[in-house]
Amino acid sequence: MKISIIGTGYVGLVTGSCFAELGNKVICADNDAAKIKGLKKGIIPIYEPGLKELVIKNTRKKRLKFSASISEAVRSSDIIFIAVGTPSSDTGEADLTGIENVARNIALNMNSYKLIVEKSTVPVETGLWVKRTISTYIRKKVRFDVVSNPEFLREGSAIADFMHPDRVVIGAESKLARDLMLELYKPLKSHVVVTDIKSAELIKHASNSFLAAKISFINAIARICDKVGADITEVAYGMGLDKRIGPGFLNAGIGYGGSCFPKDLDAFIHISEKIGYDFKLLKNVREINSQQQQLLLHKLKEHLWILKDKFIGVLGVSFKPDTDDIRNAPSIDIVNYLEKEGAHIRLYDPSAMPKAKKLLKKVHFCQDAYSAARGSDCLLILTEWDEFKSLDLTKIRGLLRRPLIVDGRNMFKPQDMQKKGFTYVSIGRPVVLGR
Ligand code: UGA
Repeated sequence: MKISIIGTGYVGLVTGSCFAELGNKVICADNDAAKIKGLKKGIIPIYEPGLKELVIKNTRKKRLKFSASISEAVRSSDIIFIAVGTPSSDTGEADLTGIENVARNIALNMNSYKLIVEKSTVPVETGLWVKRTISTYIRKKVRFDVVSNPEFLREGSAIADFMHPDRVVIGAESKLARDLMLELYKPLKSHVVVTDIKSAELIKHASNSFLAAKISFINAIARICDKVGADITEVAYGMGLDKRIGPGFLNAGIGYGGSCFPKDLDAFIHISEKIGYDFKLLKNVREINSQQQQLLLHKLKEHLWILKDKFIGVLGVSFKPDTDDIRNAPSIDIVNYLEKEGAHIRLYDPSAMPKAKKLLKKVHFCQDAYSAARGSDCLLILTEWDEFKSLDLTKIRGLLRRPLIVDGRNMFKPQDMQKKGFTYVSIGRPVVLGR
């Protein structure tokens, strides 16, 4: 099929490359000419495992093209995915200016039937507005359909998530639109949910909010564990074996971050309020999440007392492993707070340091975890990169000024750390004291 993807951000680029890999002719278009110029040369603006290879392969096979002309992309394709950003405005409301602009641009360039697909995460009823916008600006008498097809890609495993989804959601109003979408996704042999547009839009917001609620729930239980000396990993394991609960998204830690959950929760709370429902549950989810960073800082202070002029080695700055994304990463607020208190930060992250350098000007960036530990009063773990699991902990202990590890991601077993001589502080698990 002839497809164009408007917006070459994270979602657009992954979606476009994967559809090309499935044998479609894809144009990824963006009005950021510099980005398009880079992509044509194989320069990928984000770090996502496997994406570069996919882009290069499909560009060579002439199935994937990049264009700075949205009009051209619209004119030469039958299915148009809207994958532009929907950032939070000051009030938490999703800013849909980008979506409206693209809808207008599509309308002005419609030369034949087009299927317009909402891929970006949007509040319920956006599809309705996209349809109205296109009807207002359309010049030629051609038919079109709007469908909602939310993405469920996780950063770090986005390609696998695209190719092997738990489900594909299609919100469509006409038979033609539904059939075209089913044909497009046929090669994935996935479970497909076909529904109306509004329900599809809601499935996305509700899913992200539910996952965020699971994280805040387990973080709240971790608080209880801290108070009574129980172990949150044991509790989560025991809960997760119940098929109705499931083991996923029950890792306690410093809270969720990234470009999706915080923004989507804000937007969902906002749209709920707008249509007359006060979504108190989600407000609590958000509040618990923001308390997790304070909790970690409190734990740190309990062991370091005064932070001024202490050296703190920090491992991990990305909002989760396998990505260089630091948007809404809890680590950024934590580091900023520590610096405000007068601590000196030595930070190492396997891939997010170039981005972090632009934001954290006073931090000393290290070439590896060992340099971050050298001479530090504490090692603070903020992202659970696999690389950290295989660190030589005996060496780390020798490098630290005092054998203190504060782990915001529960990466190690407390008993193992005690055997290695560390005072080890984690979330919702008993503190073990080093020798
Ligand atoms: C999330 C969803 O998982 C995707 O399905 C969705 O498509 C995407 O948002 C989106 O809306 O675009 P993502 O933000 O890439 O994907 O990352 P997740 O793997 O969901 O993690 C989000 C945050 O939750 C991270 O900060 C992570 O550290 C935290 N988390 C996750 C926990 O604190 N505990 C857990 O048990 C799981």
